[in-house]
Amino acid sequence: MLRNRWYPILEARRLGRRPVGVKRLGQQLVVFRGRGGQVVVQGGFCPHRGAGLAAGRVIDGELVCPWHGFRFAEDGHCTLMPCEGGETRPPKALSLPTFQAREERGLVWLWWGERQTELPPIPFFDEVGPERGDWTESSYVLPYHYTRMVETNLDIHHTPFVHGSVVPVGSRVEGFDAKLEGDRISTGGSLVKEGRSGGSSFRADLILPCLGLVQLASKLHILVSATPVDEESSWLWFRYYQGYTRLRPLGKLLTWLAVHSELRVVQRQDWRIFAAMAPGTIDDFPYAFVHADKGIALYRKRRAELLHETSRAAAG
Ligand code: FES
Ligand SMILES: [Fe+2]
Repeated sequence: MLRNRWYPILEARRLGRRPVGVKRLGQQLVVFRGRGGQVVVQGGFCPHRGAGLAAGRVIDGELVCPWHGFRFAEDGHCTLMPCEGGETRPPKALSLPTFQAREERGLVWLWWGERQTELPPIPFFDEVGPERGDWTESSYVLPYHYTRMVETNLDIHHTPFVHGSVVPVGSRVEGFDAKLEGDRISTGGSLVKEGRSGGSSFRADLILPCLGLVQLASKLHILVSATPVDEESSWLWFRYYQGYTRLRPLGKLLTWLAVHSELRVVQRQDWRIFAAMAPGTIDDFPYAFVHADKGIALYRKRRAELLHETSRAAAG
């Protein structure tokens, strides 16, 4: 997993009064709002005897373990051990790992890497935002490696074969190009029916480690993240933005319908392919790339560079 990057880990709207448990980046985590409403992300197991903290409570911005009622402040230090009496100071060892996290664009973001006093801005696509109308989102965990999920968001040429019943586009890719700038890969072209001119233009971009933008119609943007859960599974989050109408209920209805057809039809078509695909990560299978795969090839290249940088930093 690429270190020293921001990862979206949860929709902010899922945070209420109770802590939420999620597994991301190979770690069991607990997410809640602190006293001032800010997002707090901590290790999901109590350092006392390992209880799952997502079943606990939040009182005055402190996380309370459901087993023996130990309390943890937003910086992770233990503030109370009820069994030892309120006056006993908890030992330092009794503290909860606390991660750097932020809430932005309706998502909870986790900084995965070395703790830093000044963190870089959270990467996002400026093309989408509230000004583009209402959006609807959904998410779930899938049993596929995140690299396979990430690269699939740069693969538009499977559309006529897998989703032709819903998205009737041509199979020939014309005018395609892909470029890499920093951590961003931008691709675009047209899907044209054989023997016809014109076609449907598309765009598929990625900001590493895992945030994608797909555009198959000029006023419909799909944002998607395939955040690592662990080395076997990924959290797939996606959000539809529409720019057809400024009428709020209508815009909301359009994006809701898009998300539900994506969930009930389009993604099920994808998972039929995934279920029978060569297993493992993108490093386990030697792809024979063609021109239309250039975005995927750039993802593989950039990911390898960043992994190499990480291992060099760890060694030196
Ligand atoms: S396991 Fe959490 S307080 Fe004992
Ligand atoms: Fe697909």
